Amino acid sequence: MSAGLRIEHLSVEYAARRRLGRPQGDTHKVLTDIGFTLLAGETLGIVGESGSGKTTLGHAVLRMTPPSSGRILWDSVDLAALDDRGLRPYRPHMQLVFQDPYEAMNPRMSIGCVIAEPLILACGLTRRARRIRVAQLASQVGLDESLLTRYPRELSGGQRQRAALARALATKPRLLVLDEPTSGLDVSLQARILNLLRDLQAEKGLSYLFISHDLAAVSYIAQRTLVLFRGHMMEQGPTDALIRRPAHPYTAALLAALPVPAERKAANSAAEVTRLPPDPGSRACVYYAGCATAQPRCRTEAPIATTLGDDHLVACHYPLHGAARDF
Ligand SMILES: Nc1ncnc2c1ncn2[C@@H]1O[C@H](COP(=O)(O)OP(=O)(O)OP(=O)(O)O)[C@@H](O)[C@H]1O
Ligand code: SF4
Ligand SMILES: [Mg+2]
Repeated sequence: MSAGLRIEHLSVEYAARRRLGRPQGDTHKVLTDIGFTLLAGETLGIVGESGSGKTTLGHAVLRMTPPSSGRILWDSVDLAALDDRGLRPYRPHMQLVFQDPYEAMNPRMSIGCVIAEPLILACGLTRRARRIRVAQLASQVGLDESLLTRYPRELSGGQRQRAALARALATKPRLLVLDEPTSGLDVSLQARILNLLRDLQAEKGLSYLFISHDLAAVSYIAQRTLVLFRGHMMEQGPTDALIRRPAHPYTAALLAALPVPAERKAANSAAEVTRLPPDPGSRACVYYAGCATAQPRCRTEAPIATTLGDDHLVACHYPLHGAARDF
């Protein structure tokens, strides 16, 4: 498999305040020094609590949000260094599927037009060729052709998510950023959409960045997972290893919040601690205040990512198992 996407030292800052819609004064950092590789045909899960920067990461990778530093290497081309014009040829290859597809659809357009819109912008097909392609796309995602004349509000949540997927696939992308694509759906629909995503990936060799709160969904679909906390990478590695033997105390706390067998919950529940925050301006570990296994060193020295082997990275001075080696 080739490395489709490589992210190096990616950081994003937003303006702390806005006035009349314009950024003002100081900035606040939302992502700090993130790195990962996403192979062609692979899924990387991005997990973390609300506000940890998952959506920002997805948007930065697609260059919908400008990075403040770092590289976004797509087949060795640094997308972070390109302007809008330079990015144009790459945009069709990378698409976003929103958590709430309704928000991303024009309510006055029929579903057929919603799916066809990227084709008009990117491909310049004739009207007849577009109609054929929209019907193909609808069939690929299991959307009945009779629904193409309806408006977004006239579809169920699951049907709308299928339409959003068809739209995202219209330009034959190689990478999809899926931002909580199943979180608005009931459990049986979630399973169907996850299966559809797996089938499409196998058929087309797509790469997915799968953003989710739901570790169960991530464990089902993602070969590798990256855990974010307040914009910092805590741990990343093969999903299986990360879930069976979490090395970072924050990953363990996330897993403890899942409905899992009692013995694992008991082992991890100590992570639910509160501690006074470190002195302002100190270089403490970003998870220090909530960490059950913090030591004095953690209050003054932020950990850097180290490897546990097997493509497994952890940013912790005292990982829960195994000795970390310098990365
Ligand atoms: N356009 C923006 N301007 C300023 N701050 C922003 C902007 N977008 C997001 N933020 C801030 O960046 C941080 C990360 O937000 P983000 O939406 O990436 O989190 P998330 O992990 O996707 O959360 P959720 O799980 O709730 O969707 C939050 O503190 C948020 O308030
Ligand atoms: S570095 Fe220290 S505070 Fe941070 S997660 Fe590891 S043990 Fe906890
Ligand atoms: Mg989000």
